[in-house]
Amino acid sequence: MATAQTGDPRLTEIVEALLTSLRGIIRKHRISHEEYRRAVGFFVETAAKGEIPLLFDVFLEATVDQVDAQGRSGTETSVEGPFYLPNAPLLKSPCVLPQRPKEPGDILLLSGCVRAVDGEPLGGAMLDIWQSDAQGAYSHFNIPESEAPWNLRARVIADERGEFEVQTRVPAPYQVPSDGPTGALLRAIGRHPWRPAHLHLRITHDLCETLTTQLFFTGDPWIDSDVVGAVKESLITTLDKHEDPADFKQRGFDRPYYTVRYEFALPRLLRKAA
Ligand code: BEZ
Ligand code: FE
Repeated sequence: MATAQTGDPRLTEIVEALLTSLRGIIRKHRISHEEYRRAVGFFVETAAKGEIPLLFDVFLEATVDQVDAQGRSGTETSVEGPFYLPNAPLLKSPCVLPQRPKEPGDILLLSGCVRAVDGEPLGGAMLDIWQSDAQGAYSHFNIPESEAPWNLRARVIADERGEFEVQTRVPAPYQVPSDGPTGALLRAIGRHPWRPAHLHLRITHDLCETLTTQLFFTGDPWIDSDVVGAVKESLITTLDKHEDPADFKQRGFDRPYYTVRYEFALPRLLRKAA
């Protein structure tokens, strides 16, 4: 006699819902067998080109972020995206992000404070920072390891007052890779591949929930049409330019520089009653 199989209830419910939605789309749009085979081929190619994370993050991660963020307090979250790498070099603030001897782009000093939502400074908070360079390239993915391992990536430890200052470069707006199946799909549905310039941060502290977010800049041409849909108003900052030669020379720079300051607030970890 066959025994009844019991599956994971949540997974079962979600997979059934997904299949119901997909079957509904097939019926509603009268998907032909040829179109069905093309769709299967698209996913085979996406996997072969290593673009599954990119495809999902472009089209779906912002929605997952919105759902996850419901009821959360403090600084707004944003998507992690496919270009995060764990175990970046550990540096103490103030510091300079790892970079090439002639790293292109404008100098940026990113500073701020990490606090709990109730205002208590989170001394020793760790800010895992990653970004594109001034040409929109991410180390490891678009810049060869031999040229610049960990370029513009680091885990930065804030001081005992939660304050930090990081010297880096102003990132550039960036196109998600357009030469593979994800780019081809975007073109086929008439969507551009641009993201506004941004800095990625993943901030951790023992007493608080992890904050994964991004900072954007006013005036960016793509701020209102991010292909990923990850921009939130509260995360848009203003780059302040410092052009006084006495000022930039005193800091040891040979040219004007930009600053951005942001105050981060992390939700307290909820402790379970004993
Ligand atoms: C990014 O931040 O670069 C990114 C995020 C989601 C999808 C693709 C790229
Ligand atoms: Fe990014």
